[in-house]
Amino acid sequence: MEMLLFGVWALLILIPDPGAAEERFEVSVWPDQALVKYGQSLTVNCSTTCPDPGPGGIETLLKKTEVGKGPQWKKFLLEDVTQNSILQCFFSCAGIQKDINLGITVYQPPEQVIVELQPAWVAVDEAFTVTCRVPRVTPLENLTLTLLQDDRELRRKNFRSLAMASQRAEVTINVKAQWVDDRCNFSCRAELDLNSRGGGLFHSNSALQILRLFEFSQSPQLRVSSLLEVGMAETVSCKVARVFPAEEVMIHMFLGDQELSPFLFWEGDTIWANATIRAMEIGDQELSCLASLGPVEQKTSQPVYVYSFPPPVLEMEEMYPLAGTEINVTCSGHILTSSSPTLRLQGAPDLPVPGEPAWLSLNASEEDDGRNLSCEASLEVQGQQLSKTAVIQLHVLYKPRFEESGCPGNQIWVEGMVQMLACVPKGNPTPVLMCTWNGTVFDLEVPQKATWNHSRTYCCTATNQLGSVSKHIEVLVKGLDKGVSSIILVIFRVAFVVGVIYMALIRNIWP
Ligand SMILES: *[C@@H]1O[C@H](CO)[C@@H](O)[C@H](O)[C@H]1NC(C)=O
Ligand SMILES: *[C@@H]1O[C@H](CO)[C@@H](O)[C@H](O)[C@H]1NC(C)=O
Ligand SMILES: *[C@@H]1O[C@H](CO)[C@@H](O)[C@H](O)[C@H]1NC(C)=O
Ligand SMILES: *[C@@H]1O[C@H](CO)[C@@H](O)[C@H](O)[C@H]1NC(C)=O
Ligand SMILES: *[C@@H]1O[C@H](CO)[C@@H](O)[C@H](O)[C@H]1NC(C)=O
Ligand SMILES: *[C@@H]1O[C@H](CO)[C@@H](O)[C@H](O)[C@H]1NC(C)=O
Ligand SMILES: *[C@@H]1O[C@H](CO)[C@@H](O)[C@H](O)[C@H]1NC(C)=O
Ligand SMILES: *[C@@H]1O[C@H](CO)[C@@H](O)[C@H](O)[C@H]1NC(C)=O
Ligand SMILES: *[C@@H]1O[C@H](CO)[C@@H](O)[C@H](O)[C@H]1NC(C)=O
Repeated sequence: MEMLLFGVWALLILIPDPGAAEERFEVSVWPDQALVKYGQSLTVNCSTTCPDPGPGGIETLLKKTEVGKGPQWKKFLLEDVTQNSILQCFFSCAGIQKDINLGITVYQPPEQVIVELQPAWVAVDEAFTVTCRVPRVTPLENLTLTLLQDDRELRRKNFRSLAMASQRAEVTINVKAQWVDDRCNFSCRAELDLNSRGGGLFHSNSALQILRLFEFSQSPQLRVSSLLEVGMAETVSCKVARVFPAEEVMIHMFLGDQELSPFLFWEGDTIWANATIRAMEIGDQELSCLASLGPVEQKTSQPVYVYSFPPPVLEMEEMYPLAGTEINVTCSGHILTSSSPTLRLQGAPDLPVPGEPAWLSLNASEEDDGRNLSCEASLEVQGQQLSKTAVIQLHVLYKPRFEESGCPGNQIWVEGMVQMLACVPKGNPTPVLMCTWNGTVFDLEVPQKATWNHSRTYCCTATNQLGSVSKHIEVLVKGLDKGVSSIILVIFRVAFVVGVIYMALIRNIWP
């Protein structure tokens, strides 16, 4: 500059015509290209070669302050530069004004780079959009946005050729979601290259956005019986098949407006929710299953009918009737919800009038003891025939009784063998048995080694609360060797008789 000034001075000295020298004066501005960060300030030096300049300065819409001056220059501070503008630096020299323009370019580096996936959860085979935008970046002509999917460049966009007014620093692409895209990450890189304008290269990256894919096309399937008994625990199940990721499905189940607490479990691409329900209100209700995954919700409902069906009540006037007495057995159904309940008491001659109990009158006999009586109630609910059965066991009381089968009157023991008296009397309550011989009690519980002196006639007495009965039992003890010899004797005799008959026959046939 000093060299230049020296040259100008030299020129002025060499050329004596001052008018010509002044016509050749120049106006210059420093810097010759201004790049200002948004909101920052700029110092401008406007100078001239005119040896004795007239009025000079700068013309700008920006707020300016003169911060220094010399005979041939003026320096200004421009504050809060927020817009591109053109500034004029002018000087007049001997009545001639010259000016020079300075273009001021405001820049703002990309600070925030935003990537958005819309929607964040995408169904397989559906389209989604990836948008990258950079708020407050300028100048757009020098911006490049690059969308990346897992480090792979998806789209690069620059804004050089497009009309500025209609533009925003934004790039959007539509993609069809495929399984391989699940959990891949999307990001965006913004670059502002101001090298050609005397600035640097600014760049910034967005945070990663992870794409989530899902598949959820089938509605839930409910498994519940259409009839539920009031107060009874019942398992209901809701299944969602072909769903991904199954672990992230949320399932809510309701009976009417009461929410159930299901237990969830998964296998592959299927999820089940099982819940135990206990319906408390009779009538029509609705069981529903609401499954949701990401943005999708699917609901299935099924009507259920809640019925009440208490089991029939089977009763006897007397729990322990005596044999020979007449007892009345009744079977009644509690308040049944249907108008057509049916009670059938096993053994009763005919069906009772609806609403009346079924009854059966029977002469309790010894044979009835231990017998079971049953009563079946049936109810038609929503076209379905339901039945319940009640059973009671008869306990008929009767006096002790000996039967030849349970207590034989003649019993043969084998000498030397361990033997017991075989006698079980009948009776209810179970009778107590006592056997005696010549006033001494014979211990029936202990097995005896049979001896000759066991051959006696015992007197056995069976006793219960209703009475007692006695029976004589004759025990005969036989010697083992004597038994064997008698068998041999029998065989010998049979052989002899057969021989005699044979001889007689031979003589008769061949006389
Ligand atoms: C302004 O520019 C002129 C001419 O180049 C120079 O002589 C002067 O020193 C400059 N002023 C400042 C403050 O830099
Ligand atoms: C910056 O923008 C200017 C004006 O549009 C252009 O001339 C220049 O080539 C751009 N530079 C880059 C690196 O894009
Ligand atoms: C993004 O994807 C790339 C390529 O698959 C992988 O290397 C990188 O770890 C991923 N980043 C995150 C945070 O998941
Ligand atoms: C859930 O319910 C279904 C259908 O009732 C049944 O098959 C399955 O065993 C149940 N699972 C569990 C764990 O209870
Ligand atoms: C048995 O009981 C039923 C119901 O209590 C009654 O209607 C019936 O008359 C009774 N029968 C007899 C023989 O007592
Ligand atoms: C029960 O026994 C009585 C008298 O022993 C008799 O009159 C009655 O008919 C019998 N009832 C039945 C149902 O057998
Ligand atoms: C009667 O029912 C009871 C159980 O209720 C059972 O143990 C018994 O064996 C039944 N008796 C007959 C004769 O069926
Ligand atoms: C029966 O008992 C009486 C008195 O206890 C006794 O005198 C008699 O000998 C006994 N008879 C036999 C056959 O043992
Ligand atoms: C029966 O005879 C045996 C000997 O053969 C004797 O020891 C026993 O005491 C006798 N028992 C009675 C009850 O007389």
